[in-house]
Amino acid sequence: MKLLLTGSSGWLGRYLAPQLRAAGHEVVGLDVAPGAHTQIVGSVADAALVESVVADGIEAIIHSGALHKPDIVRYPKQVFIDTNVTGTLNLLEAAVAAGHDRFVFTSTTSHMVSQRVRDGAQAEAFWMDERFYDGPPRNIYGVTKAAAEGLCRLFAAERGLDVAILRTGRFFPEDDDTHHALSGENLKANEFLNRRLSASDAARAHVVALSGIAGLGCETFVLSAPIPFTRGEAGEMVRDARAVIARHFPDADELYAARGWKLPEVIDRVYDPSKAERLLGFRCRTDFASVLDAMRTGRPLPFDHDPSYLPPKELA
Ligand SMILES: NC(=O)c1ccc[n+]([C@@H]2O[C@H](COP(=O)([O-])OP(=O)(O)OC[C@H]3O[C@@H](n4cnc5c(N)ncnc54)[C@H](O)[C@@H]3O)[C@@H](O)[C@H]2O)c1
Repeated sequence: MKLLLTGSSGWLGRYLAPQLRAAGHEVVGLDVAPGAHTQIVGSVADAALVESVVADGIEAIIHSGALHKPDIVRYPKQVFIDTNVTGTLNLLEAAVAAGHDRFVFTSTTSHMVSQRVRDGAQAEAFWMDERFYDGPPRNIYGVTKAAAEGLCRLFAAERGLDVAILRTGRFFPEDDDTHHALSGENLKANEFLNRRLSASDAARAHVVALSGIAGLGCETFVLSAPIPFTRGEAGEMVRDARAVIARHFPDADELYAARGWKLPEVIDRVYDPSKAERLLGFRCRTDFASVLDAMRTGRPLPFDHDPSYLPPKELA
């Protein structure tokens, strides 16, 4: 298919564009910043540009371009609305005008994180699948991504577009901007237990969703590495996560100690990706077991860590 990929110069774009090409698609990249996979430098907020690009033979859109969490400190709320809400609307309008049958939207697990989830003080780990709702998003990023999801559902209902809404967990290479107690790599490794996936898996989910969503209507999917725990362990995960981890991964403690790393003492939430496996046949290849395996064998860690990463639009 001839595809439009928005956000083609970004972190996801650098994985996704090559994977789409390898799957046999022709990819036209659109981004506000130039990049190796970007043919059109411009904004999704520019309705006329979007319309003309899509009218030029595009058969489906993968909409990944956005302002996201690190941009909160860089841009005013209005720019989030222009980019994430108006931009999504422009793309959906152009998709139906061009007679597309499907649309893939990169959303985020971040907008499911209410203040209570963030505070993490409860008796059991929150089991966050697609039905989970515990209150409104906490920031303009979440508000605009949730609104964009709403637009996707509206176009699916009114215009019969099949839409895959991919609520993606963390795959960013930077350090976390809120947690500084652990080293960046240690924190990322821990997150593969409950809330992270590799950028390569995030990209592959989009490739799979593009074909898998055809005929399914509008479906939302949480994307994260497979969870090693059961719901029956949700209470113990909060009380004594290390005991639960030791049951599933007996040598984790020793492997961590050898690096001076720390396992989490509390796991207060999990992002449950089982629907994507059930409906799309998609399962992340990199999980916590792969992280431990790399530590055991001395191979490079199976995820990216780059504290200096800045999106190209900031470098430009
Ligand atoms: N990185 C993560 O951990 C993570 C987690 C969940 C969801 N996501 C989502 O994944 C998608 C890709 O994020 P990323 O991590 O690659 O971030 P990124 O900032 O590296 O890439 C986003 C790209 O979108 C582009 N962009 C911004 N405004 C635009 C506009 N108006 N028009 C066209 N392009 C525009 C940027 O220039 C950038 O290249 C985003 O939708 C983000 O919300 C990311």
